[in-house]
Amino acid sequence: MIDAKLLVEKAYEAQKFAYTPYSGFNVGAALLGTNGKIYLGCNIENAAFSPTNCAERTAFFKAISEGQREFLAIAIVGNKDDAENTEYCAPCGVCRQVLAEFCDPKTFKIYLAKNKDDFKEYLLEELLPLGFTSKDLDR
Ligand code: THU
Repeated sequence: MIDAKLLVEKAYEAQKFAYTPYSGFNVGAALLGTNGKIYLGCNIENAAFSPTNCAERTAFFKAISEGQREFLAIAIVGNKDDAENTEYCAPCGVCRQVLAEFCDPKTFKIYLAKNKDDFKEYLLEELLPLGFTSKDLDR
């Protein structure tokens, strides 16, 4: 059983570390591995812009670089420094593609939160229909 509320709380913890001097848009992600561990990620910007890494990919790359390759769910939160209202923050296309590399589209869950008590749940297949994966390379 996935503790979605805990995962959302962890995403808010990760968001505190976002390095966003250029956009002021702070994203936090909490990724749950099948090993029960939660990997935190924040976005990390750069003066050259394109080296910027999204929160979701930070979390994935941390986990994978520590030997964990199987995942159950991710929670994502994002808003501007001075935002009065937090909106749901959906993962960008590049992050969806990274999710598709490691996660089962039919079971992997994505929680998008507005606050600690208000979040929506999606399956990866809903956010990335007809995704390109390693299976396509076998045909
Ligand atoms: N960002 C993320 O961290 N995740 C997403 O899925 C969307 C965008 C970051 C990248 C950049 O630092 C800031 O949000 C504005 O695009």
